[in-house]
Amino acid sequence: MRDTIRFLKGGQVVELENVGPTETVLDYLRLRCRQTGTKEGCGEGDCGACTVALGRLVDGKLVYQPVNSCILLLGMIDGAELVTVEDLALDSKLHPVQAAMVEFHGSQCGFCTPGFVMSLFTLYHAHGQEKSRKAVTEWIAGNLCRCTGYRPIVDAALDACFDAADDAFSWRANETRELLQKLADSRDVFIGESDSFFSSPATLDGLAALYGQHPDATLVAGATDVGLWITKQLRDLPKMIWLGRIEGLERVESSPSGVLIGAMATYETTEEAMSDLSPDLGVLWKRIGSKQVRASGTVGGNIANGSPIGDTPPALIALGTTLELHSSEGSRALPLEKFFLDYGKQDRNSGEFVTGLFVPRPSSNQAFRCYKISKRFDQDISSVMGAFRFTIDDGTITDARIAYGGMAATPKRAEHAERALTGALMDDPSTWGAGMQALLSDYKPMTDMRASAEYRMETARALLAKALMEISGTAPDEIRVLAIREADNDRAA
Ligand SMILES: Cc1cc2nc3c(=O)[nH]c(=O)nc-3n(C[C@H](O)[C@H](O)[C@H](O)COP(=O)(O)OP(=O)(O)OC[C@H]3O[C@@H](n4cnc5c(N)ncnc54)[C@H](O)[C@@H]3O)c2cc1C
Ligand code: FES
Ligand code: FES
Repeated sequence: MRDTIRFLKGGQVVELENVGPTETVLDYLRLRCRQTGTKEGCGEGDCGACTVALGRLVDGKLVYQPVNSCILLLGMIDGAELVTVEDLALDSKLHPVQAAMVEFHGSQCGFCTPGFVMSLFTLYHAHGQEKSRKAVTEWIAGNLCRCTGYRPIVDAALDACFDAADDAFSWRANETRELLQKLADSRDVFIGESDSFFSSPATLDGLAALYGQHPDATLVAGATDVGLWITKQLRDLPKMIWLGRIEGLERVESSPSGVLIGAMATYETTEEAMSDLSPDLGVLWKRIGSKQVRASGTVGGNIANGSPIGDTPPALIALGTTLELHSSEGSRALPLEKFFLDYGKQDRNSGEFVTGLFVPRPSSNQAFRCYKISKRFDQDISSVMGAFRFTIDDGTITDARIAYGGMAATPKRAEHAERALTGALMDDPSTWGAGMQALLSDYKPMTDMRASAEYRMETARALLAKALMEISGTAPDEIRVLAIREADNDRAA
């Protein structure tokens, strides 16, 4: 057992024994270390002002990811290298991304600048990125600037971020790797007392035992939901169990039959396997949150939080995903749709947690589509999310799996529509209408700030029609938001 966390900062190992269960990295930096370069804007993962970089070993390689320190728990940086804007300049010589921001006039009031610089620092260290305006805008979609405008910042990135890294971090990369290897021990971390603690078990058995003892504890994966319970809802969460040190939970295994995703696999680490399963999943993954949110947020967390507007559950349900749960009593698996019982209620027993999921690959006679509808393209929660998998034999739909988010208290299958479409002919749109009509029996959506009930129902019907048109080959490309956005990007370039 270890009663400290350990991480690297400025080339030195930092060991802390006093770590509050809900203490954020941003508060640690600003309040404890008085390193106020990292800014607080929204405090909810939206603006990127608080962006810092975390360096971790991935398959032996040192990888830097941008993360929002306002919603990242301090205990979660155990075993990582923490890099903030204070660490970049060397002997008062600016880091190349800082120098480029100056040269291209990428800063006015400067409040967003440290966050942009840190995002660009991670781009500077990302290898093999295509050098394009599109790649840069995707990378910094989680950083907002109110006064400079984005063009000079993108220009600075294009100038500084695409050559081989040549800075203090690349020069001492071997040393950093060795230090990080030394920090990776297999002891459970437990800091605090039995009624208030931050803990991070090193094994599944350790987690099952601890959570069995403290079923009232909060499990945390990437903290992109839990962080907001702390900063926005001011919830009292005295017992925190982070799942980030359990070997195997970060696994992503692709096979001809499908993709196995461990509960700690992030959007970032699953993106390639999901794009390979279906291009639509690749598009969906890119539109979840921002680079920072995708670096921390997990697919498991998106499911476990039980939100009716989480983006991945409808797509995963339509694909026939199985969820794996585990506790000290043993393991069980269930179809994902059965996990969501009611608003805020999931089929999870006391002391039970998600260990992973299996997403079957669509077979050669199955067509899959999914669409996210939100007010903004990037960094927005969906108003409606629709996902469709049709099994088609000789031009006839022989099986339909349809699921929506934003249409009910949980992500939910459209069972009436599925039945109505079984037997429909792909080359005869007149056989599709019953399916669209049946959606009225499947859902009674609500009106809220994102969309009205009428809008949601109309959109759900339109998405089903869009899927059928695309699969039958009668839809023009322009009904794809991505195609429209790429045309916009090309115009801006
Ligand atoms: C700026 C921003 C943008 C976002 N954009 C999107 C978006 O576009 N689409 C979207 O769907 N979501 C979005 N989210 C929400 C969030 O990022 C996702 O829901 C994410 O998948 C949560 O994963 P996490 O690992 O961060 O979960 P956490 O916050 O760590 O946990 C979420 C919930 O799951 C529970 N939990 C976590 N792991 C387990 C486990 N293994 N077993 C049991 N329970 C567990 C936690 O106790 C908690 O209840 C956004 C969030 C932010 C801050
Ligand atoms: S302060 Fe806005 S993302 Fe953290
Ligand atoms: S320079 Fe003022 S917010 Fe970006």
